[in-house]
Amino acid sequence: MKNFKYRNPVKILFGEGMIKEMSKEIAQKERILLIYGGGSIFKNGVYKQVTEALEGYQLFEFGGIEPNPHYETCVRAVEFIHKENITFVLAVGGGSVIDATKFIVAAACYKGDAWDLMLGNAPIKAALPFGTVLTLPATGSEMNSGFVITKHATQEKLAMGSPLCFPQFSVLDPLTTLSLPATQTANGIIDAFVHVTEQYVTCPQDAPLQDRFAESILQVLVEEGKKIVADPSNVAVRANIMWAATWALNNWIGQGVDDDWATHMIGHELTAFHGIDHGQTLAIVLPGLLDVMRNYKKAKIIQMGERVFHIHANNEQEAINQTIEAVEKFFNSLGIKTRLSDYNVTETVIPKIVQRFQERGWLLGEEERITPEIVAEILRRRL
Ligand code: NZQ
Ligand code: ZN
Repeated sequence: MKNFKYRNPVKILFGEGMIKEMSKEIAQKERILLIYGGGSIFKNGVYKQVTEALEGYQLFEFGGIEPNPHYETCVRAVEFIHKENITFVLAVGGGSVIDATKFIVAAACYKGDAWDLMLGNAPIKAALPFGTVLTLPATGSEMNSGFVITKHATQEKLAMGSPLCFPQFSVLDPLTTLSLPATQTANGIIDAFVHVTEQYVTCPQDAPLQDRFAESILQVLVEEGKKIVADPSNVAVRANIMWAATWALNNWIGQGVDDDWATHMIGHELTAFHGIDHGQTLAIVLPGLLDVMRNYKKAKIIQMGERVFHIHANNEQEAINQTIEAVEKFFNSLGIKTRLSDYNVTETVIPKIVQRFQERGWLLGEEERITPEIVAEILRRRL
């Protein structure tokens, strides 16, 4: 295991009915901006619960954050913050609303062109405080300090992070997830699953605690995933999925080990060019990445096969084949398709992605072994 420094300051308010506990976390003097997405919070009663919990506070609203949040929309929220002297922000929604909020609170404290923050040209030196009410278990954004923003004008989707962008608190009430369409529930489970594989299916790291934690998160996602397909109204199962998704990317399992993230980086491009949901892009890319990197990642693929999917094959290559097949079948069992052609994407996207990675000088994966040419091979296997 490598040396590491780990701190996660996010206070979690977990469970049914916990939205009303939120006011204890925000000082009465704050001028609060509630940020939300396309309006799901009005249909499922979450907006009502939040505004009731914050009765008596000075509360402002900014809605319309898109899935895969746009820089252009975030900039309008920053203007609103300045105009109304907002002192605290509350994100109510899925990963997109939370990510947008992280960028907005940092951009509100930055004087130049805020896209500089995404390009890494300017360090994040300050951010407004914020909390979150999560309505879609998937990204882990509620308990980490990362965010992903899309510049609509140029179809660029970039990731950034800062210790200043941890939420002060996050409310995780599984009841809020009952209104999720089946596809979003499935996307979320796949996103969490792949967050774990990005940190776990690398090369052996002699970090058995991180491994066992990772495997237990994967097992919970597989077992509870099956149950939620059979009974979407089961709140106890939804609670387990919610907590597992938070743990998949609160960065605990990534401490002291190398991580990959190539599946995410390739997936981000499929969203940028074709608007495919984040979870779906991962379901397409991961089986291809495991296949192409099978020899390098051999030990961990086989370990995941044995411990998560209970695979015991006669030889290593067969164990790898069966494990990759089990992963893909799991995604399909949630109702998510796993081929580019399922989303009407043809091979013409491959040179476009390769060109972008070449221009950015990106080498992906835990030891930067995934060159743009290997990215092309991964995608060709997913046509
Ligand atoms: O916008 P509203 O109307 O709220 O509807 C949303 C949206 O249409 C809907 N939804 C959310 N909660 C709901 C609901 N519908 C009914 N009932 C509810 N309870 O679901 C749709 C998708 O929401 P979105 O927030 O876009 O999904 P998700 O949570 O999967 O977030 C995806 C974004 O997070 C980024 C992704 O790249 C993508 O931009 N990621 C962020 C990460 C992080 N910060 O650590 C890591 C991830 O790997 C990921 O990259
Ligand atoms: Zn993800």
